[in-house]
This record gives sequence, C-alpha cells and structure tokens, in this order.
Amino acid sequence: MINMFPVTRMRRLRMNQKLREMVQETEVNTGDLIYPIFVDENIKEKLAIKTMPGIYRYPLIDLPGISKEIQSLGIKSIILFGVPSCKDELASSAYEKNGIIQRAIKTIKNESDLLVIADLCMCEYTSHGHCGIVENGRVDNDKTLEIYKKIAISYAEAGVDIVAPSGMMDGQVGAIRSILDSEGFEYIPIMAYSAKYASSLYSPFREAAESAPKFGDRKTYQMNYANSREAIREIELDIMEGADIIMVKPAILYLDIIKMARERYQVPIAAYNVSGEYSMVKFASMEGAIDEESVVRELLTSIKRAGADLIITYHALDFAKWNKKI
Ligand code: PBG
Ligand code: ZN
Repeated sequence: MINMFPVTRMRRLRMNQKLREMVQETEVNTGDLIYPIFVDENIKEKLAIKTMPGIYRYPLIDLPGISKEIQSLGIKSIILFGVPSCKDELASSAYEKNGIIQRAIKTIKNESDLLVIADLCMCEYTSHGHCGIVENGRVDNDKTLEIYKKIAISYAEAGVDIVAPSGMMDGQVGAIRSILDSEGFEYIPIMAYSAKYASSLYSPFREAAESAPKFGDRKTYQMNYANSREAIREIELDIMEGADIIMVKPAILYLDIIKMARERYQVPIAAYNVSGEYSMVKFASMEGAIDEESVVRELLTSIKRAGADLIITYHALDFAKWNKKI
C-alpha cells in the first residue's frame, strides 16, 4: 500500500521550480499549435476583427510576410479560412481554380515551409450562410457531399497539405477520401471535424469569416452540446470513413469529449480552441481581470492534458512569442 503521511508528503516535489518541472506530466510546445488565418479577397490592407482583438483578415498580398513571421516563431502549421468576393447558393467560389483559398494555398506553399491545412466547408461561400446546399429550407446532405468533393479536389490541385472538412454532413469524410484517392491524391490526409458541437462560441468567427447563417441555425448538422455518447459515434464513423486526424470542437468546454476520444482511439486528436473561447480570455485580460499569458498557458495545457495532440488556437502567435523569450 501507499505510505501515508508523514512518510508521504505530496509537497516534497513541489518545493522548487526544478523539482516541479522534473515531474511535470504535460507540456505544450509551439509545434503543437495550429494558427488560423482568414484570407479576404475584398481587401487591400489587413482588417482588424473587432470581436477578436489581435486577429485580422489578410489580403492575399500579406500572406508571404505573415507566413514567414509565423514560421520564424516556430509554428509549423496554419489552417485557412476564406472570405470570397462572390457568394451564391451553391458556394461555387469555394471550388474555383483561382478562388481565394486556392490562391492562398499556392502563395503560402511558395513562400514558406508551413504545413497548410484548408478548412473545407461551404458557409463562407454561400449566400445563405449554411454549410451545405439548401433545398426547401433544409440542408440536403447528399447533394452537399458533391460540392465538398469539388472543393477537396480544387484544394488538392492547389497543393494543400491537409483538408479539414467542417460541415458535419454525414458521409463527408468517406466522400472526400474516395474522390481524393480516385484523382491521385491518396496521400493527402483528412483532418475531420468529427465532434463539432452547435456552440454559441463561434460567433466571433462568424463575424471574422462572414459566415453566419441568414436563417435558422446549424443544429440540424452540428451536435447538441448536451451529448457525449453521440460524439463517440461521430468519431468512430469518421475513423471508419478514413479520417487520419479527428477533431473535437470547441476545446475548453469539451475537455471530457477529448478525454473520451483519447481513451478509445489511437488516431491523432486535434482540438479547436474556438473564437469565443479566445475572445473571453482576450477581453477579460484587456480589462485586467486575468493575466493573459498565465491563463493561456493554463488553458492550452488543460487541452493537452485531456489528450489532444494538436491545438488549433488564435493564441498561437502570442504563445510562440512568450516561449521564445525564455
Ligand atoms: C465553418 C467553421 C466554423 C468554425 C470553423 N469552421 C463556424 C461555424 O461552424 O459556424 C468555428 C471556428 C471558431 O469559432 O473559431 N464550418
Ligand atoms: Zn460551415
């Protein structure tokens, strides 16, 4: 049996920083972080996103500079979101050869060694703001898959490293895997937004990406946040359909889901520390209520401790800068 007090003193290993570090179980590294970038086809200068202090929409011409800066800070990977100049019912600007994301992928791949992930969805490109094709007021699952396939191929042809389908349509991973394979892109991995909840924490992002639905909400495709067993089914299906990396989103409020996934599956797990989670920390620290650096360190550590291998976070640049100073 374990020795009791006074033989065992838990405080013994907490008495100085070296000891504490020696027995520390979890560490967040800059290389674990993925930085989201918004690319806007309509602007000439970077545009601050008011609801996400420190985050901008960038024009294409800024990408060489920003990607070099990101890389020099030790970040290895970014995820792209596009704001196109044209939106329509079918999101056709999402799969144009010279669409904003396709050009962004090429530019960043040419100008840096960053690993480029592209979010694959329709909501930024549809006039109605939904993540799929709307018919009779409903999102049609199977017709949407046909568009997702076109987007996947156009990203692959532009040279993307990883595609990340985020629309929560049934069968999206399988559909994308099979089209990529049949077109000769069998080595492009899929990072699947597997357990993506219908969360109120996405609203700053929807301002940033201009992707809010014009009617209704996303509850017919994103998950009910009251459910956890359902997340296991979603993840299981995505793995069976060929997901290489699975994702839980949001992250901080869903650490239990990350943990369950970690215990059950051997695939790499990504967690998306979403816009609302970022804004809460940012505004609270701007008001002096909390200390930004220590809170961000604590929350990113909690995500990794729960079992995430990779964290998509708007804090990535700040975190990388804090870590460089040491
Ligand atoms: C688009 C998408 C969203 C996010 C990532 N991809 C928004 C949504 O589902 O409405 C949210 C990211 C964030 O809040 O940081 N499908
Ligand atoms: Zn979407």
